[in-house]
Amino acid sequence: MCAAKRHRALGGKLMFEHLIDLHSQTKDRPILDLFDAKRAEDFSVRAGDMLFDYSKTNIDSATRDALIDLLETRGVAEKRQAMFDGAAINDTEGRAVLHTALRNLDGGPVTVDGEDVIAGVRDTLAKMESFARDVRSGTYTGQGGKITDVINIGIGGSDLGPAMAYIALKPYSDGPRCHFVSNVDGADIAEVLTACDPETTLVIVASKTFTTIETMTNARTAKAWMSEKVTDPAAQFAALSTAEDKTADFGIAAERVFGFEDWVGGRYSMWGPIGLSLMLAIGGDAFRAFLRGGQAMDTHFLNADWHENMPVMLALVGIWHNQICGHATRAVLPYDNRLARLPAYLQQLEMESNGKSVAMDGTSLPYNSGPVVWGEPGTNGQHAFYQLIHQGTRVIPCEFLVAAEAHEPELKHHHQLLVANCLAQSEALMKGRTLEEATALMAAKGFEGVELDRQARHRVFSGNRPSTTLAYPKLDPFALGQIIALYEHRVFVEGVILGLNSYDQWGVELGKELATALQPIVEGRESADGKDGSTVALVGFLRANGV
Ligand code: F6P
Repeated sequence: MCAAKRHRALGGKLMFEHLIDLHSQTKDRPILDLFDAKRAEDFSVRAGDMLFDYSKTNIDSATRDALIDLLETRGVAEKRQAMFDGAAINDTEGRAVLHTALRNLDGGPVTVDGEDVIAGVRDTLAKMESFARDVRSGTYTGQGGKITDVINIGIGGSDLGPAMAYIALKPYSDGPRCHFVSNVDGADIAEVLTACDPETTLVIVASKTFTTIETMTNARTAKAWMSEKVTDPAAQFAALSTAEDKTADFGIAAERVFGFEDWVGGRYSMWGPIGLSLMLAIGGDAFRAFLRGGQAMDTHFLNADWHENMPVMLALVGIWHNQICGHATRAVLPYDNRLARLPAYLQQLEMESNGKSVAMDGTSLPYNSGPVVWGEPGTNGQHAFYQLIHQGTRVIPCEFLVAAEAHEPELKHHHQLLVANCLAQSEALMKGRTLEEATALMAAKGFEGVELDRQARHRVFSGNRPSTTLAYPKLDPFALGQIIALYEHRVFVEGVILGLNSYDQWGVELGKELATALQPIVEGRESADGKDGSTVALVGFLRANGV
């Protein structure tokens, strides 16, 4: 039996064991030794004009073949088709997972429960575009005239996507200023309201369910603020939601309600109405370019062979580092300052999707769930936490992102310096610096004997720390669409391999329930009796100090 067939016969769990064996055989091998004339090309993937390089990892051909066998054992191709076809793959909630339909600009039909959803998607997009045109041109006005400011009130998936993209696409923004309020902490909304004039502000209440306590509390505060100066405040509100009855109860006219269906998960929703603030900022054409980028990645994901499939290879590198090598965290390091909120966006996308310990069939996951995702833009991170990435005791796989071209041609030397730093970091992580090299360095500075050895040891870099780099021509709307869809599909593939449901989020429920129960206790209307000692003591301290 050939190796691949044997691997398939082993089944998913044994495949993991096989990969763990491969890891134990190769873990001390220098990544640098894997490089021959072809490795950089062999261990990289292109999708459109983007390049994903994973050659600076410890993955070799045998490991890659075994990882690819995992895809087949887990039925990734069948599940991918089921997702795009509108099957109810979110089976703990009985829902389809069809955010891809929101960017399906020229394909279709796609059916859910026997009904084509594409016509509805296109109608909603046209309604958003028409409203965006009216706001941007001044046809739709506030009491005081043309809208100058938009406040998007939402949290989680109803905030992170548009907030991240608004910053990412600032060079394309020629509409009203956008502000994003998410936290129930009054500090968040207070600062935004202070900066806006209610007479020329549009408030968007973005909530899939229209019940989220933070969002509804902020929405009521914004309405009260608006009422102080505006005679008909509801006329300066729009809503983005699947719960159109609730938006009506809040007083928002149907013409400014942009609905979507429950087959769009919150953290996958920025392609539809939840992206309205972004569309108001950059306009309908640029928003369509963003959708086209996502759609291009969908086409690539559906058609490219496994070896050449960027989301698939990104996912396999993720599985290798987390579940096989045991590296619990993943740093996302954009060398593109406008992607400053990408790590926060990916935290929800990846950790709310794959942070689970129960498999689809209700059994406990026999390996680790998805990784802890974190990061900051380079070069800032270099002067903060890279120390630990280079010399800490734990290995942190790093994912670099970098554009070939910036938006500031007059500052080209800045961009070249930025790119040099990005490449230097992945090189340093891989190569490290040996004790001999460190000793020579310190000897040249005049150190001798025991002190030379001591000083040199502090300057050793173990190296052999894995990283990947995603390079793209320029952070324009199309590229951002490609990048976000790339990560969405990566999460899908990792979720299928792990055998869990990437599209529910039961883990956020308990805290919400307890917060509701604690509110009257914090307000002093109910006693804390029955709560644990720590909670009782904390409530006591905070109440004694004025909460
Ligand atoms: O945190 C849980 C969650 O349900 C997220 O999945 C979601 O993005 C967020 O809350 C906001 O939900 P909604 O859009 O319904 O207000």
